[in-house]
Amino acid sequence: MIGFAGYGISGALELTVVFRRMAGVIMMKSSNMTCIEGVNDLERTVIDVGEVRLNKFSAYWKGDQPVLKDLTLNIKAGECVAIVGRVGSGKSSLLNCILREIPKYKGGFTFKGRLAYVEQEPYIFSSTVRDNIIFGKKFKESFYNKVV
Ligand SMILES: Nc1ncnc2c1ncn2[C@@H]1O[C@H](COP(=O)(O)OP(=O)(O)OP(=O)(O)O)[C@@H](O)[C@H]1O
Ligand SMILES: [Mg+2]
Repeated sequence: MIGFAGYGISGALELTVVFRRMAGVIMMKSSNMTCIEGVNDLERTVIDVGEVRLNKFSAYWKGDQPVLKDLTLNIKAGECVAIVGRVGSGKSSLLNCILREIPKYKGGFTFKGRLAYVEQEPYIFSSTVRDNIIFGKKFKESFYNKVV
């Protein structure tokens, strides 16, 4: 009996993770990063594919306390960059900005190209590695081998 209760609890926890992830994806699509000064300083700047530029960039999750303040950086195409900082210093928030997931910002922000984002807390469901890779879609050997 206690064993069944355990299954129930772990099933409920897994469902919570699934719903939270789904809500995140839904919110992600409807999110729209707004420039609080009305103008993105770098909007008209021409950059190469794969480049990321921030100019005196500040970002806000809520209220008027920025999570990132006056950040200027230029990441060139093909560069490998590591962002280091204390817990809660805003590393993930910076990546959220590049994904345009932060609600408000000021300063300049521009990015050109395609994005692949691997989250700090990835969602993996309990099944095989193969099931996690094909994620309910039809098995395609070339895609599967590429991922592996
Ligand atoms: N989705 C969010 N909504 C509101 N506030 C957030 C959100 N994500 C992060 N924050 C806040 O932004 C601040 C920076 O958090 P962030 O996760 O960016 O730090 P981090 O450097 O990635 O930390 P860690 O080393 O733990 O990964 C924290 O105060 C956090 O509470
Ligand atoms: Mg983080």
